[in-house]
Amino acid sequence: MKIGALTGGGDCPGLNAVIRAVVRTNANRGGTTLGFLEGWRGLTEHNCIELTAEGTDDIISRGGTILGSSRTNPFKDATSVDNVIETIRSTELDALIAIGGDDTLGVAHRLNAEHGINTIGVPKTIDNDLSSTDVTFGFDTSINVVMEAVDRLRTTAESHRRVMVIETMGRHAGWITCFSGVSTAADYFLIPEEKPDLDHMCELLKQRRQAGKMYGIVIVSEGVELPQVDGFVTQDTEVDEFGHVKLGGVGEIIAELIEQRTGIETRVVTLGHLQRGGAPSAYDRVLGTRLGVHAARLAHEGRFGQMVSLRGTQITSVELSDAVGQMRTLEPEFMSEAREFFT
Ligand code: F6P
Repeated sequence: MKIGALTGGGDCPGLNAVIRAVVRTNANRGGTTLGFLEGWRGLTEHNCIELTAEGTDDIISRGGTILGSSRTNPFKDATSVDNVIETIRSTELDALIAIGGDDTLGVAHRLNAEHGINTIGVPKTIDNDLSSTDVTFGFDTSINVVMEAVDRLRTTAESHRRVMVIETMGRHAGWITCFSGVSTAADYFLIPEEKPDLDHMCELLKQRRQAGKMYGIVIVSEGVELPQVDGFVTQDTEVDEFGHVKLGGVGEIIAELIEQRTGIETRVVTLGHLQRGGAPSAYDRVLGTRLGVHAARLAHEGRFGQMVSLRGTQITSVELSDAVGQMRTLEPEFMSEAREFFT
Protein backbone atom coordinates (compact mmCIF):
# COMPACT_ATOMS: atom_id res chain seq x y z
CA MET A 1 0.00 0.00 0.00
CA LYS A 2 1.21 3.50 -0.79
CA ILE A 3 0.20 6.06 1.83
CA GLY A 4 0.64 9.82 1.58
CA ALA A 5 0.91 11.91 4.76
CA LEU A 6 0.75 15.64 5.33
CA THR A 7 0.69 18.03 8.27
CA GLY A 8 -1.47 21.15 7.87
CA GLY A 9 -2.37 24.26 9.89
CA GLY A 10 -0.46 25.56 12.90
CA ASP A 11 2.29 23.13 13.86
CA CYS A 12 2.29 21.47 17.26
CA PRO A 13 4.51 19.21 19.35
CA GLY A 14 3.80 15.55 18.61
CA LEU A 15 3.37 15.78 14.82
CA ASN A 16 6.63 13.94 14.21
CA ALA A 17 5.51 11.13 16.52
CA VAL A 18 2.45 10.64 14.29
CA ILE A 19 4.53 10.69 11.10
CA ARG A 20 6.98 8.15 12.54
CA ALA A 21 4.14 5.86 13.62
CA VAL A 22 2.35 6.03 10.26
CA VAL A 23 5.56 5.24 8.39
CA ARG A 24 6.51 2.35 10.68
CA THR A 25 3.04 0.78 10.83
CA ASN A 26 2.74 1.00 7.06
CA ALA A 27 6.25 -0.43 6.53
CA ASN A 28 5.44 -3.33 8.89
CA ARG A 29 2.69 -4.26 6.41
CA GLY A 30 4.93 -3.90 3.36
CA GLY A 31 3.76 -0.39 2.47
CA THR A 32 5.62 2.72 1.37
CA THR A 33 4.95 6.27 2.58
CA LEU A 34 5.27 9.61 0.83
CA GLY A 35 5.43 12.80 2.91
CA PHE A 36 3.84 15.85 1.27
CA LEU A 37 5.55 19.10 2.16
CA GLU A 38 3.88 22.15 3.74
CA GLY A 39 0.36 20.86 4.19
CA TRP A 40 -2.05 20.85 1.28
CA ARG A 41 0.44 22.98 -0.68
CA GLY A 42 2.53 19.82 -1.13
CA LEU A 43 -0.37 18.28 -3.00
CA THR A 44 -1.26 21.33 -5.07
CA GLU A 45 2.41 21.72 -6.08
CA HIS A 46 3.29 18.03 -6.24
CA ASN A 47 6.03 18.35 -3.65
CA CYS A 48 6.81 15.20 -1.70
CA ILE A 49 9.59 13.05 -0.28
CA GLU A 50 9.81 9.37 0.46
CA LEU A 51 9.70 8.54 4.16
CA THR A 52 11.35 5.41 5.52
CA ALA A 53 11.10 3.71 8.90
CA GLU A 54 14.86 4.09 9.39
CA GLY A 55 14.88 7.75 8.36
CA THR A 56 12.03 8.70 10.70
CA ASP A 57 12.96 6.55 13.69
CA ASP A 58 14.41 9.29 15.88
CA ILE A 59 12.13 12.20 14.95
CA ILE A 60 9.79 11.53 17.90
CA SER A 61 11.67 13.92 20.17
CA ARG A 62 11.59 16.85 17.72
CA GLY A 63 9.01 19.62 17.89
CA GLY A 64 7.33 21.03 14.78
CA THR A 65 6.95 18.79 11.76
CA ILE A 66 9.66 17.42 9.46
CA LEU A 67 7.19 17.89 6.59
CA GLY A 68 6.58 21.59 7.17
CA SER A 69 3.09 23.05 7.40
CA SER A 70 0.92 25.77 5.90
CA ARG A 71 -2.63 27.05 5.99
CA THR A 72 -3.17 26.30 2.28
CA ASN A 73 -6.80 25.66 1.36
CA PRO A 74 -7.08 23.81 -1.96
CA PHE A 75 -10.83 24.45 -2.03
CA LYS A 76 -10.25 28.17 -2.48
CA ASP A 77 -10.25 27.57 -6.25
CA ALA A 78 -11.07 24.74 -8.63
CA THR A 79 -7.56 24.51 -10.12
CA SER A 80 -6.00 23.75 -6.75
CA VAL A 81 -8.46 20.92 -6.10
CA ASP A 82 -7.72 19.51 -9.56
CA ASN A 83 -4.00 19.69 -8.81
CA VAL A 84 -4.47 17.79 -5.54
CA ILE A 85 -6.44 15.06 -7.31
CA GLU A 86 -3.88 14.88 -10.11
CA THR A 87 -1.02 14.54 -7.60
CA ILE A 88 -2.85 11.72 -5.81
CA ARG A 89 -3.41 9.97 -9.17
CA SER A 90 0.12 10.41 -10.52
CA THR A 91 1.81 9.33 -7.27
CA GLU A 92 -0.52 6.30 -7.19
CA LEU A 93 -1.57 6.84 -3.60
CA ASP A 94 -3.89 4.28 -2.06
CA ALA A 95 -4.58 6.44 0.98
CA LEU A 96 -3.90 9.94 2.22
CA ILE A 97 -3.48 10.66 5.94
CA ALA A 98 -4.06 14.31 6.82
CA ILE A 99 -2.77 15.36 10.24
CA GLY A 100 -4.28 18.66 11.24
CA GLY A 101 -6.93 20.75 12.91
CA ASP A 102 -10.44 21.54 11.81
CA ASP A 103 -9.43 23.27 8.56
CA THR A 104 -7.06 20.53 7.39
CA LEU A 105 -9.51 17.80 8.36
CA GLY A 106 -12.33 19.71 6.65
CA VAL A 107 -10.38 19.51 3.38
CA ALA A 108 -9.76 15.78 3.95
CA HIS A 109 -13.48 15.29 4.50
CA ARG A 110 -14.47 17.18 1.35
CA LEU A 111 -11.92 15.30 -0.78
CA ASN A 112 -13.42 12.07 0.47
CA ALA A 113 -17.09 13.06 0.29
CA GLU A 114 -17.00 15.06 -2.96
CA HIS A 115 -14.18 13.39 -4.90
CA GLY A 116 -13.98 9.85 -3.52
CA ILE A 117 -10.38 10.26 -2.31
CA ASN A 118 -9.29 7.73 0.33
CA THR A 119 -8.57 10.14 3.17
CA ILE A 120 -8.07 9.51 6.88
CA GLY A 121 -7.73 12.25 9.51
CA VAL A 122 -5.55 12.60 12.59
CA PRO A 123 -6.62 15.41 14.95
CA LYS A 124 -4.00 17.85 16.25
CA THR A 125 -3.91 21.28 17.83
CA ILE A 126 -2.46 22.88 20.92
CA ASP A 127 -5.89 24.52 21.34
CA ASN A 128 -7.54 21.18 22.34
CA ASP A 129 -10.72 22.43 20.70
CA LEU A 130 -11.63 19.56 18.36
CA SER A 131 -14.88 17.74 18.93
CA SER A 132 -14.93 13.95 18.53
CA THR A 133 -11.73 13.40 20.47
CA ASP A 134 -11.12 13.78 24.19
CA VAL A 135 -7.67 15.37 23.96
CA THR A 136 -5.52 16.60 21.09
CA PHE A 137 -1.77 16.04 21.18
CA GLY A 138 0.22 19.26 21.49
CA PHE A 139 -2.05 20.54 24.25
CA ASP A 140 -0.10 18.89 27.06
CA THR A 141 3.24 20.30 25.89
CA SER A 142 1.68 23.70 25.42
CA ILE A 143 0.20 23.97 28.92
CA ASN A 144 3.52 22.90 30.38
CA VAL A 145 5.27 25.69 28.45
CA VAL A 146 2.76 28.20 29.82
CA MET A 147 3.12 26.78 33.32
CA GLU A 148 6.89 27.13 33.25
CA ALA A 149 6.67 30.67 31.87
CA VAL A 150 4.17 31.72 34.55
CA ASP A 151 6.31 30.17 37.29
CA ARG A 152 9.18 32.34 36.07
CA LEU A 153 7.04 35.45 35.73
CA ARG A 154 5.76 34.98 39.25
CA THR A 155 9.19 35.59 40.80
CA THR A 156 9.73 38.88 38.97
CA ALA A 157 6.13 39.95 39.62
CA GLU A 158 6.70 39.27 43.31
CA SER A 159 9.98 41.20 43.45
CA HIS A 160 8.41 44.28 41.86
CA ARG A 161 4.98 43.97 43.52
CA ARG A 162 3.39 43.99 40.09
CA VAL A 163 0.48 42.38 38.35
CA MET A 164 1.65 40.28 35.42
CA VAL A 165 -0.82 39.67 32.60
CA ILE A 166 -0.03 36.64 30.44
CA GLU A 167 -1.78 36.30 27.09
CA THR A 168 -2.20 32.74 25.83
CA MET A 169 -3.19 31.16 22.52
CA GLY A 170 -6.17 28.89 22.02
CA ARG A 171 -8.35 30.94 19.64
CA HIS A 172 -11.98 30.67 20.80
CA ALA A 173 -11.45 27.97 23.41
CA GLY A 174 -10.13 28.49 26.94
CA TRP A 175 -8.46 25.11 27.49
CA ILE A 176 -4.89 26.43 27.55
CA THR A 177 -5.80 29.34 29.80
CA CYS A 178 -7.83 27.31 32.28
CA PHE A 179 -5.33 24.44 32.59
CA SER A 180 -2.33 26.71 32.88
CA GLY A 181 -4.25 29.01 35.23
CA VAL A 182 -5.15 26.18 37.58
CA SER A 183 -1.67 24.65 37.46
CA THR A 184 -0.01 27.97 38.37
CA ALA A 185 -2.51 29.19 40.97
CA ALA A 186 -3.18 32.28 38.87
CA ASP A 187 -5.20 34.97 40.66
CA TYR A 188 -7.60 35.35 37.78
CA PHE A 189 -8.10 34.13 34.28
CA LEU A 190 -10.28 35.18 31.40
CA ILE A 191 -11.50 32.71 28.81
CA PRO A 192 -13.32 33.29 25.50
CA GLU A 193 -16.33 31.22 26.57
CA GLU A 194 -17.32 33.76 29.24
CA LYS A 195 -18.12 37.46 29.23
CA PRO A 196 -15.23 38.98 31.21
CA ASP A 197 -16.13 40.45 34.57
CA LEU A 198 -13.41 43.12 34.69
CA ASP A 199 -14.83 44.83 37.80
CA HIS A 200 -14.66 41.58 39.72
CA MET A 201 -11.11 40.91 38.48
CA CYS A 202 -9.84 44.35 39.57
CA GLU A 203 -11.66 44.19 42.89
CA LEU A 204 -10.14 40.80 43.64
CA LEU A 205 -6.62 41.97 42.77
CA LYS A 206 -7.04 44.94 45.12
CA GLN A 207 -8.47 42.77 47.91
CA ARG A 208 -5.60 40.31 47.65
CA ARG A 209 -3.08 43.12 47.85
CA GLN A 210 -4.82 44.54 50.90
CA ALA A 211 -4.69 41.07 52.44
CA GLY A 212 -0.91 40.98 51.93
CA LYS A 213 -0.37 39.30 48.58
CA MET A 214 1.68 41.99 46.88
CA TYR A 215 1.70 40.66 43.32
CA GLY A 216 -0.84 39.20 40.94
CA ILE A 217 -0.98 36.77 38.01
CA VAL A 218 -3.73 37.14 35.41
CA ILE A 219 -3.96 34.81 32.40
CA VAL A 220 -5.97 35.95 29.38
CA SER A 221 -6.96 33.98 26.29
CA GLU A 222 -6.21 35.71 23.01
CA GLY A 223 -9.85 35.16 21.98
CA VAL A 224 -11.50 37.02 24.88
CA GLU A 225 -13.97 39.64 23.69
CA LEU A 226 -14.00 42.93 25.56
CA PRO A 227 -16.98 45.26 25.82
CA GLN A 228 -14.78 48.25 24.90
CA VAL A 229 -13.56 46.62 21.66
CA ASP A 230 -15.81 45.79 18.73
CA GLY A 231 -15.26 42.03 18.33
CA PHE A 232 -11.94 40.28 18.88
CA VAL A 233 -8.60 41.99 19.31
CA THR A 234 -6.56 41.19 16.21
CA GLN A 235 -2.99 41.87 15.13
CA ASP A 236 -4.02 43.23 11.73
CA THR A 237 -6.86 43.01 9.22
CA GLU A 238 -5.51 40.02 7.26
CA VAL A 239 -7.32 36.67 7.15
CA ASP A 240 -5.84 33.32 6.13
CA GLU A 241 -7.12 31.08 3.32
CA PHE A 242 -9.73 29.62 5.66
CA GLY A 243 -10.94 33.08 6.67
CA HIS A 244 -9.38 33.22 10.16
CA VAL A 245 -8.10 36.45 11.68
CA LYS A 246 -4.78 36.69 13.57
CA LEU A 247 -5.80 37.07 17.19
CA GLY A 248 -3.54 38.91 19.62
CA GLY A 249 -3.28 42.06 21.70
CA VAL A 250 -6.06 41.64 24.25
CA GLY A 251 -3.49 41.21 27.04
CA GLU A 252 -2.18 44.75 26.47
CA ILE A 253 -5.66 46.20 26.88
CA ILE A 254 -6.31 44.19 30.04
CA ALA A 255 -2.97 45.23 31.54
CA GLU A 256 -3.67 48.93 30.94
CA LEU A 257 -7.13 48.59 32.38
CA ILE A 258 -5.84 46.87 35.54
CA GLU A 259 -3.24 49.58 36.08
CA GLN A 260 -5.81 52.33 35.61
CA ARG A 261 -8.49 50.81 37.81
CA THR A 262 -6.33 49.42 40.63
CA GLY A 263 -3.30 51.70 40.60
CA ILE A 264 -1.07 48.60 40.67
CA GLU A 265 1.88 48.62 38.30
CA THR A 266 1.15 46.02 35.62
CA ARG A 267 3.13 44.36 32.82
CA VAL A 268 2.07 42.10 29.99
CA VAL A 269 3.73 39.10 28.35
CA THR A 270 2.31 37.55 25.20
CA LEU A 271 3.57 33.99 25.02
CA GLY A 272 2.57 33.56 21.36
CA HIS A 273 4.35 30.88 19.35
CA LEU A 274 6.52 29.82 22.29
CA GLN A 275 3.47 27.76 23.21
CA ARG A 276 3.76 25.71 20.02
CA GLY A 277 7.52 25.27 19.93
CA GLY A 278 10.01 22.79 21.31
CA ALA A 279 10.12 19.12 22.12
CA PRO A 280 6.83 17.31 22.81
CA SER A 281 6.02 16.01 26.30
CA ALA A 282 5.98 12.26 26.91
CA TYR A 283 2.17 12.36 26.87
CA ASP A 284 2.07 14.01 23.44
CA ARG A 285 4.66 11.61 22.03
CA VAL A 286 2.64 8.61 23.19
CA LEU A 287 -0.72 10.01 22.05
CA GLY A 288 0.74 11.03 18.66
CA THR A 289 2.28 7.56 18.27
CA ARG A 290 -0.98 5.78 19.11
CA LEU A 291 -3.00 7.93 16.72
CA GLY A 292 -0.45 7.38 13.94
CA VAL A 293 -0.46 3.60 14.42
CA HIS A 294 -4.26 3.51 14.27
CA ALA A 295 -4.47 5.84 11.26
CA ALA A 296 -2.16 3.55 9.24
CA ARG A 297 -4.13 0.50 10.41
CA LEU A 298 -7.37 2.16 9.21
CA ALA A 299 -5.75 2.68 5.81
CA HIS A 300 -4.81 -1.01 5.59
CA GLU A 301 -8.34 -1.97 6.59
CA GLY A 302 -9.71 0.28 3.83
CA ARG A 303 -11.70 2.38 6.30
CA PHE A 304 -11.60 5.79 4.66
CA GLY A 305 -13.43 9.02 5.49
CA GLN A 306 -12.60 8.39 9.16
CA MET A 307 -10.67 10.31 11.80
CA VAL A 308 -8.80 8.52 14.59
CA SER A 309 -9.86 9.69 18.00
CA LEU A 310 -9.10 9.28 21.70
CA ARG A 311 -12.05 8.24 23.86
CA GLY A 312 -11.06 7.65 27.47
CA THR A 313 -7.90 5.60 27.10
CA GLN A 314 -8.94 3.90 23.84
CA ILE A 315 -8.09 4.96 20.31
CA THR A 316 -11.17 4.65 18.18
CA SER A 317 -12.41 6.29 14.99
CA VAL A 318 -15.26 8.56 13.95
CA GLU A 319 -16.64 9.70 10.61
CA LEU A 320 -14.74 12.75 9.35
CA SER A 321 -18.13 14.29 8.58
CA ASP A 322 -19.04 14.15 12.28
CA ALA A 323 -15.62 15.33 13.41
CA VAL A 324 -15.27 18.59 11.51
CA GLY A 325 -16.97 21.94 11.87
CA GLN A 326 -17.77 21.70 15.57
CA MET A 327 -15.53 23.48 18.00
CA ARG A 328 -15.13 21.96 21.47
CA THR A 329 -14.96 24.84 23.91
CA LEU A 330 -13.86 24.48 27.51
CA GLU A 331 -16.25 22.32 29.48
CA PRO A 332 -17.91 24.56 32.13
CA GLU A 333 -17.07 22.14 34.94
CA PHE A 334 -13.38 23.04 34.69
CA MET A 335 -14.13 26.74 35.19
CA SER A 336 -16.54 26.04 38.01
CA GLU A 337 -13.78 24.14 39.86
CA ALA A 338 -11.21 26.83 39.06
CA ARG A 339 -13.53 29.57 40.33
CA GLU A 340 -13.26 28.20 43.87
CA PHE A 341 -9.87 29.91 43.87
CA PHE A 342 -10.93 33.31 42.65
CA THR A 343 -14.24 34.18 44.17
O1 F6P B 1 -4.63 26.92 16.26
C1 F6P B 1 -3.37 26.97 16.83
C2 F6P B 1 -2.92 28.37 17.01
O2 F6P B 1 -1.67 28.32 17.66
C3 F6P B 1 -3.89 29.29 17.75
O3 F6P B 1 -3.87 29.07 19.14
C4 F6P B 1 -3.41 30.64 17.29
O4 F6P B 1 -4.42 31.62 17.33
C5 F6P B 1 -2.99 30.39 15.87
O5 F6P B 1 -2.72 29.02 15.77
C6 F6P B 1 -1.78 31.19 15.44
O6 F6P B 1 -1.53 30.93 14.11
P1 F6P B 1 -0.28 31.43 13.28
O7 F6P B 1 0.84 30.45 13.53
O8 F6P B 1 -0.75 31.38 11.87
O9 F6P B 1 0.07 32.79 13.77
